[in-house]
Amino acid sequence: MTVLVSGGAGYIGSVTVEQLRAAGERVVVIDDLSRGQREAVDPAVPLHVHPVGDETAVRRIVEAEGIDACIHFAAYAYVGESVEQPGLYFRNNVEQGIRFVEALRAAGVGHFVFSSSCATYGEPEQVPISEDHPQRPSNPYGWTKLLLEKLLAAHDHAHGLRSVCLRYFNAAGATASRGERHDPETHLIPNVLRAARGDLSYLSIFGGDYPTPDGTAIRDYVHVSDLAVAHLAALRHLRAGKASAALNLGTGKGHSVAEVIEVARRVTKRPIEVKTLPRRPGDPAQLVADPREARRVLGWEARESDLEGIVRSAWEWMKRATAPHRETP
Ligand code: UFG
Repeated sequence: MTVLVSGGAGYIGSVTVEQLRAAGERVVVIDDLSRGQREAVDPAVPLHVHPVGDETAVRRIVEAEGIDACIHFAAYAYVGESVEQPGLYFRNNVEQGIRFVEALRAAGVGHFVFSSSCATYGEPEQVPISEDHPQRPSNPYGWTKLLLEKLLAAHDHAHGLRSVCLRYFNAAGATASRGERHDPETHLIPNVLRAARGDLSYLSIFGGDYPTPDGTAIRDYVHVSDLAVAHLAALRHLRAGKASAALNLGTGKGHSVAEVIEVARRVTKRPIEVKTLPRRPGDPAQLVADPREARRVLGWEARESDLEGIVRSAWEWMKRATAPHRETP
């Protein structure tokens, strides 16, 4: 039995590959390296450099490597970019995704774990958000994830392809060897830490007038190691012959932007200059998961996701793995 991990050269994919291997799984990666980094894949792991929509390559890999299950991370994942270039997102995440699922199914792969997002819910009607909350994405990125969820449900109905869709809230933190590196970097925690190191002269706080206790937006930050554990649990769930599911991955606890900055000042022991700017278009005030269903179905809960631990792990990794680089915001 071998697991095919698409996007295994990316942030969450590479941490999951690491954990799958530690659990004794044989892993093969497919990644076109358009956003991932070759160095993020251990040289002992077979890396096939193809777009996931290359059906011939996918079929060949499944047959040659004896693939029984797939974990699909490969996607573009910048909300802002998806608003500016929707065609790019629908082509890359949806069109390529459709071909990928089709090729895997035709080659006999019966288990599929999908990297979905809380962005499929859109602006929440209430928090915490449970899985039966209406899914009305507020940006193209969220739509691309929702369309793949629907495709997988239809394939289950038509062909018995079992899937688990994991709706991540805010992935954050690092392991000893893998961390978050995006270019451009738009995520809060890496940017706060870049401001602490002096790579940014200040951190931009997008919005100080939200209807939250301190006026800044609230998110549910979940450690990337906890996310990786959930993928392994989802894989075991499917291999045990259990039903398809869609599950939130979060902690159930929200933290504001101001709180994250405070924690980062404490962890780094450095001053962090901030500037409060207008809200970023499309950002909801609060996104917090109701994580109970993942506990019920997979026995999963976040164990390493306290905010201080997340920020500390990201800071340690950043100091080790990335060179300081001053830029003007
Ligand atoms: N923020 C700042 N300054 C920054 C970066 C972010 O104030 O430099 C704020 C944002 O406005 C937001 C919060 O910090 O309120 C978190 O922002 P991130 O960019 O880190 O994360 P998002 O919540 O925007 O995005 C995450 C995932 C997406 C997913 C989305 C769902 O990264 O993949 O949640 O809305 F689609």
